[in-house]
Amino acid sequence: MPRFYLTTPIYYVNDLPHLGHAYTMVNADAISRWHRLSGDEVLFVTGTDEHGLKVARAAEQNGMTPQEWTDRMSKQFVEAWEQLEISNDRFVRTTDPRHHAAVAELLGRIYANGYIRLDSYRGPYCVGCEAYYTPEELVNGNCPVHAIPADEVEEENYFFELSRFGDRLLRWYKDNPNAVMPESKRNEAIGFIRGGLKDISITRTSIDWGVKVPWDHSHVFYVWYDALVNYATAIGFGEDDTSFSTWWPAVHHLIGKDILRFHCVWWPAMCMAAGIDPPGNIFVHGWLLVGGEKMAKSKLNQVRPADLAQEIGVDALRYHLLRDTPLGPDGDFTYEGVVTRYNADLANTLGNLFSRVAAVVASKCGGLGPAPTAGGRLAHEAERACETCRSAWERFAPHEALEAAWKLLRETNAELEAAEPWKKEPGTDVDGVLGDALEVLRIVAILASPAMPVACSELWRRMGLQGTPLDARFPRDTRWGGYPGGLTVERGSPLFPRKQTAPDIR
Ligand code: ME8
Ligand code: MG
Repeated sequence: MPRFYLTTPIYYVNDLPHLGHAYTMVNADAISRWHRLSGDEVLFVTGTDEHGLKVARAAEQNGMTPQEWTDRMSKQFVEAWEQLEISNDRFVRTTDPRHHAAVAELLGRIYANGYIRLDSYRGPYCVGCEAYYTPEELVNGNCPVHAIPADEVEEENYFFELSRFGDRLLRWYKDNPNAVMPESKRNEAIGFIRGGLKDISITRTSIDWGVKVPWDHSHVFYVWYDALVNYATAIGFGEDDTSFSTWWPAVHHLIGKDILRFHCVWWPAMCMAAGIDPPGNIFVHGWLLVGGEKMAKSKLNQVRPADLAQEIGVDALRYHLLRDTPLGPDGDFTYEGVVTRYNADLANTLGNLFSRVAAVVASKCGGLGPAPTAGGRLAHEAERACETCRSAWERFAPHEALEAAWKLLRETNAELEAAEPWKKEPGTDVDGVLGDALEVLRIVAILASPAMPVACSELWRRMGLQGTPLDARFPRDTRWGGYPGGLTVERGSPLFPRKQTAPDIR
């Protein structure tokens, strides 16, 4: 059975989850669900990043110990992801002793292999990024990402000799053309490496909220060095070699472009230095912008996923994130965009198709859905939609997969409009066109289930089908002819009631 290991970043617990995090999560979740549907053995991992200065400061400002604070905040992320139907298999918390052990083991190997030395460091540091900068990288003394003044820090630190990995990294990029995707992000990483790599400070003595350096307990690891190791912790690094080698290095790291350098330069170099293979694939997506700005915990433009989900529904929110912001470029979030997409694709195309079919089945077929025909035009179109979906989900292009499924729905609506079964005299044969439409709905309920697990299950149930589309297998169950006919179709209230205005949660 093919295996599929997918990770998201682990999120800082300095503040609550916002829609930017939800964007990564919903994409990772839908892609994981697609692979489960295809019969792969899937491991989908997320978590929280609980150390570092930013988290320690947030705890202090809230009058709590860092541990109390992280326990409380980590739970908020767990709950937010449950609300969004995120189906992660594991959740890594970096304060877990197992993670501390994995970090000590991995960094210990890098130290033993001679790639870590003690030196002193002085320079700008952005707490928002938890990252050192060179003076040239600052914009008027401010962090280029957070636009807040960088701190000036001076410390005696352990350094990772990243400068020794430039050639090895470039060779790795050359030998593995798909290691970093999309191409523009791969080029950005290569450009950064070609620009020359400096050794980097990986420990701190000024704070103690972190993972202790195993060979020198007066230091803790700088938060990024502990955080990146979570991808290894999750699969038992240093504890269960069989598990680790089962899942590594065939991993997919889905990340935002804000953390490209850490994942596409530092992490592969750390793996090489520790004597393990670098990650198989890193997929870098763009930012979800609000009014042209990155949504961020440090800004006021946050949108709470739970608020939006309550307004338009979890499935509709997931559908919008997947359909309207392709993975790769930046995308703009607007409330109007959510409503427009909802009305066009969910209320009209999918919702109306089902309610029309159900209404005619009730009035002309005694409430029992007829079987599809043997293989007309829609059967052919359905087959094409399935092929496009397969290729799109595999390329991390959910928007293309959903567009293919909705194209099939639009064609089915057009066939119905041409046949006008609702106008036919009693006794006229309307079974073929209705059966084909039901078969399309059954197939789309499977194809769209990674995006909208709840709504697709409800559609499935109303069509009188057994089980749920989440138990289906692709492509076995999406072949034309699976709808048996003779099942009771339940019309019910609209699956997606039309929305008049933008949700009022501003
Ligand atoms: O960086 N648009 O955590 P973080 C799209 N702890 N994605 C966004 C986004 C936006 N506006 N805002 C956030 C950290 N994200 C580290 C990661 S991993 C070993 C350690 C998503 O809480 C996106 O995936 O700042 C981004 O990379 C991540 O949240 C950063 O979350
Ligand atoms: Mg961030």
